[in-house]
Amino acid sequence: MRSPSHAKAHVQVIGTGTYLPDRVLTNYDLEKLVDTTDAWITTRTGIKERRVADKHQATSDLAVKAAHKALQDAKLSAEAVDLIIVATATPDMFFPSTACFVQKALGIKEAVSFDLSAACSGFLFALDAARRMLEEGPYKTALLIGAEKLSMITNWEDRSTCVLFGDGAGAAVLQRRPGSKGVLSTYVRSDATHTDILWVPGGGSRAPATAEVVAKKLNTIHMEGKEVFKLAVHKMISAIHEALRLAHKKDTDLALLIPHQANLRIIEAIAKRVHVPRERIFVNLQKYGNMSAATTIVALDEARREGRVREGDLVALVAFGAGLTWGAAVIQF
Ligand code: ACO
Repeated sequence: MRSPSHAKAHVQVIGTGTYLPDRVLTNYDLEKLVDTTDAWITTRTGIKERRVADKHQATSDLAVKAAHKALQDAKLSAEAVDLIIVATATPDMFFPSTACFVQKALGIKEAVSFDLSAACSGFLFALDAARRMLEEGPYKTALLIGAEKLSMITNWEDRSTCVLFGDGAGAAVLQRRPGSKGVLSTYVRSDATHTDILWVPGGGSRAPATAEVVAKKLNTIHMEGKEVFKLAVHKMISAIHEALRLAHKKDTDLALLIPHQANLRIIEAIAKRVHVPRERIFVNLQKYGNMSAATTIVALDEARREGRVREGDLVALVAFGAGLTWGAAVIQF
């Protein structure tokens, strides 16, 4: 198979930003909603609290706030953007795309804007697509957003899933700037053997949101947690190794590994199998839970703000999600 990536960087990440809704839902709050405890959630997942968007906020509202911050960080005005990709599993509506609503809110007259659906791996898939589109041209500046309002598709009566997820948005500005810094590799894959272990079976064209579908909560997240857990560990380890190989780097070269923040035990299982010391593995799931496509970009932004990504650092992002989908990227800052 032809190598899906190049080791030379052509595209740089020049700004990042985050928006997290104000409302905090703690494990103690969840104890009042379902038969669970803070102790169970903490020991089984590592999550302590998550954010929940206001009922009037749509995914694009979260996305736009993150986009403003990323543009500010990049010291660019919105008119410079000619490509917008929003990775989301919770779009504002079937159409127009959430990306078009972002474009409208940012006042960008003309761009190529579209949504990308790859669940929790969405930001990695968007990074892979944008990198190639910027390399090929004519696009010069891309706004990549991972944004989710998962509270909308959460079954708040199902203790096995409702404790895991949160709402939020992260954005990155990418620009075509050939050189030694930037996105060295991206690697993304899907295996559709297991479409039914993590899905929202109702609410789409297969089972439209009739009263019966809604009453059965088929329009909410359904997951076989144990199966997903095992595959997540296996696929994320392989993605890290593939992205490093494509970048001509080793795991020991990494200054920071930013894994998808679904479960601390998944991250610990990965940590045992890659040569990256625990202090170089970024974890923020205790504060936000799993924000699906927003997770890795929010974590990258937070790591940068905390001074954990310095000039010259090699950083890897890795994610796994429904589909199944998985992917990784290696970036030289
Ligand atoms: N509180 C208390 N007890 C609970 C809760 C809860 N919130 N949830 C489940 N339990 C119970 C179960 O009912 C079960 O009880 P039983 O033994 O009497 O039947 C027991 O705890 C064990 O349940 P398991 O499902 O076996 O627990 P497990 O250790 O596997 O943890 C979890 C479940 C946290 C969901 C884990 O499997 C996991 O993290 N899976 C991966 C999730 C993930 O990575 N998703 C990523 C992608 S998300 C996306 O793409 C949108």
